[in-house]
Amino acid sequence: MALKDEIETIRSQAEAELEKAADTDSLEAWRIKYLGAKGAVKAAMQRLKDVPRELKPALGKAANALKSTLTAAFEQRVGQVGAGSAKRSAGPTVDVTLPGSRPRIGHAHVITQTVEEICEIFARMGFTVATGPEVEDEHHNFAALNIPPAHPARDPLESFYIDEQTMLRSQTSTVQIRVMENTEPPVRIISPGRVYRPDTVDATHSFMFHQVEGLYVDEGVSMADLKTCLDQFCKAYFGPEVATCFRPSFFPFTEPSAEVDIEFHRPDGTPYWVELGGCGMVDPNVLEAVGYDSEKYTGYAFGLGIERMVMRKHHIPDIRLLFENDVRFLHQF
Ligand code: FA5
Repeated sequence: MALKDEIETIRSQAEAELEKAADTDSLEAWRIKYLGAKGAVKAAMQRLKDVPRELKPALGKAANALKSTLTAAFEQRVGQVGAGSAKRSAGPTVDVTLPGSRPRIGHAHVITQTVEEICEIFARMGFTVATGPEVEDEHHNFAALNIPPAHPARDPLESFYIDEQTMLRSQTSTVQIRVMENTEPPVRIISPGRVYRPDTVDATHSFMFHQVEGLYVDEGVSMADLKTCLDQFCKAYFGPEVATCFRPSFFPFTEPSAEVDIEFHRPDGTPYWVELGGCGMVDPNVLEAVGYDSEKYTGYAFGLGIERMVMRKHHIPDIRLLFENDVRFLHQF
């Protein structure tokens, strides 16, 4: 058969067969038969070398046209058959070979984690957890704590007042009073929670922060017990190498009073001290005001800043990072 006729025969036969190819297997068989390396189009092209010179340009053009027509027809048919089979398989397709992915779930804030850890350490020393309201009255925040009306802490600008007698508590020491009002000695409690003060915000101060209060009242409780308890707590929480320091101080509800400082380190390693909290022996006036016999019972109390502990332990340089709620930061803990 002349090459010209052969090209026409291949075209019509290939187009008819392509029309009937309705799945990927028959399409692939068609492709091999007509467009494959040993297919009909290739064979027709190979015959070009044997045709007379004067016919070569026209036949070469016809052979190239055959190849591009069949290639285009094949691609179009592949699209039609693919769309048809997609229609047939209703519902989502699942690639079961893909690796599994677990959704990112949240976790407790580093302060909540710390509160839990603090409660656990003090529980080992025999303390139970007590709670008190964040909206307090002046009596529990000040008067019952031996803080007289003229004390600077009672300046209306030093606390968030809601009305003349009601305020957001400025310290967890309120819970000391609430517990002693309702419990006969001995008492041994801690009370973690939020407190509020209109302090100027800086790297170590916030207007809302957390304290953990501690109170132990029994017969024969001494300042040595207080120092041992806080030193043991700091070693359990920060590690045995932590340095603590007790500085004489003053609180109206403890006598004697002290501040507990812990050693921080600057990035270059230079040490400096940061106040962790206040503490002291419960003032006899406070014990008497709740009906305890101050001749029989003595006690110690402390109030520690929880943010300061978190910052020291996790090397957080600025308290504001704890409250900005940037999950990139919070996910680290
Ligand atoms: C008190 O609040 C006393 N109630 C502590 C106390 C309890 C003394 C029992 C004696 C007996 P002070 O105002 O110093 O004390 O606060 C205690 C700790 O809270 C501070 O040492 C500090 O760690 C933390 N703190 C105070 N103000 C802020 C603030 N604005 N931001 C973050 N932490 C603070």
